[in-house]
Amino acid sequence: MTRPSWTIRPVGERDIDAVVALLAEIAREGTYIATEWPFDLAARARALRDALLLRRSVGWIAVDGRELVGELSVIDVTQEEPEIGMIVGALHRSRGIGRALLERALAWARTNGKPALTLRVFPDNERALALYRGTGFIDLSLQPDGIVRRDGTGRDVLVMRHAIGESGRT
Ligand SMILES: CC(C)(COP(=O)(O)OP(=O)(O)OC[C@H]1O[C@@H](n2cnc3c(N)ncnc32)[C@H](O)[C@@H]1OP(=O)(O)O)[C@@H](O)C(=O)NCCC(=O)NCCS
Repeated sequence: MTRPSWTIRPVGERDIDAVVALLAEIAREGTYIATEWPFDLAARARALRDALLLRRSVGWIAVDGRELVGELSVIDVTQEEPEIGMIVGALHRSRGIGRALLERALAWARTNGKPALTLRVFPDNERALALYRGTGFIDLSLQPDGIVRRDGTGRDVLVMRHAIGESGRT
């Protein structure tokens, strides 16, 4: 197996503009995430910066060369079972980056005594579902029209949960 060209590291304040740019790229695709394009890039960057500085959020990024190609955040670390959100750039999908980011989040949850991680996913997002099911997430509930889009239409959303084993295993 060839060694991947990307690496994973914790997200820092200096990465925020690149994270927001990646989020915008994926929002423009219009299908995978709840965030809709256009959105206020500066406001989003401020919110992310505040969450990081206040230690309300933690996250990791995947970097390939100088390019930020993936990101995962634990949205609110104070939650008992925090929700995560993740994105990988279109040209870098199906290379194992999503799985590697998830493994970092699961390790964080174990170390921080969280009983589980949760996430929300559109049920037609096959690649995401394959990744989540393949790493041990199970379906919790389907929320019909759980996400309401700007045009007023609703999209079903699936809530998933990954229990963190007490033995230290996920
Ligand atoms: C969903 C996403 C985060 C997954 O990250 P990724 O880097 O593409 O995923 P990986 O390469 O780690 O693949 C993980 C698994 O997905 C599956 N997979 C990969 N490519 C696939 C494809 N084209 N179709 C279906 N399943 C696929 C494989 O089962 C793989 O498992 P394996 O590691 O055992 O082979 C990424 O594709 C993405 O950002 N998509 C757009 C935004 C998005 O959907 N975010 C999540 C919102 S809930």
